[in-house]
Amino acid sequence: SNTFSGLFEGQNVITLQRIPSTNEYLKKELSKSAPVAEGTVIMAVDQYAGRGQHGTSWQSEAGQNLTCSVLLTPTFIDPKYQFHLTVAISLAIVSLLEPLLQTKVAVKWPNDIYVGDKKIGGMLIENILKGKLWKSAVVGIGINVNQTVFPEAIRHKTTSIKQILHRDTGLPELLAGLCRHIEREYTALKNGAYQEQLLRYSACLYRIGESHPFLVDGVEVHGVLSGVNETGRLLIDFNGHTVDFGIKEIAFVI
Ligand code: BTN
Repeated sequence: SNTFSGLFEGQNVITLQRIPSTNEYLKKELSKSAPVAEGTVIMAVDQYAGRGQHGTSWQSEAGQNLTCSVLLTPTFIDPKYQFHLTVAISLAIVSLLEPLLQTKVAVKWPNDIYVGDKKIGGMLIENILKGKLWKSAVVGIGINVNQTVFPEAIRHKTTSIKQILHRDTGLPELLAGLCRHIEREYTALKNGAYQEQLLRYSACLYRIGESHPFLVDGVEVHGVLSGVNETGRLLIDFNGHTVDFGIKEIAFVI
């Protein structure tokens, strides 16, 4: 029987044993002449050259974690508001993980999923435009599930579902749950729920309402994270004066 409904109904999850990156794989499929249906999911057992934001890498032990890419065709979104899709996907991941972990899950702007001060997952959404129009979005999601040993350099700031629950979680079930949540949030976005989603997203933001050190042009500054604007720029309040920052203009100091 099929565990999926709607968008993901009847879609085969394509599980591949060993590939460099699910995002790269899906993008290559999209460049071929045969159409790829919305809702197609590429899942890797062993993703050995996973990619993160800004050319970083995403390392995952074979067989232990969720490393997948979902194809969406959000033609209803103006490409300049592609952040709206990031919001919907972030909410889907948070609502998958919070009931499972029974703890607060945060979104560290713009693409990281955190539990406390540790990263448990991340997303890499790549937009494929046709001229000025949106053709498709490759939604790559990585969640640390059953891995408990991480490279020395990131050990102190990384966690997994198993490190929190002390038991294994089935990857197919987790993926099915993820798809259900994506379906729900994506459909809501399509039906005009963005403002309501933005409110929920803001409530999930890592360090929202708190004074925090940030790095701006190599200089450490303190400000209160107050939210994001329509295009996804981060809003920081400096003594009642709000400044918005793009992804390359600011970094959290941890
Ligand atoms: C980040 O932390 O900067 C984003 C990480 C995104 C990782 C996922 S794993 C599945 C998909 N394929 C990739 O190569 N990357 C994403």
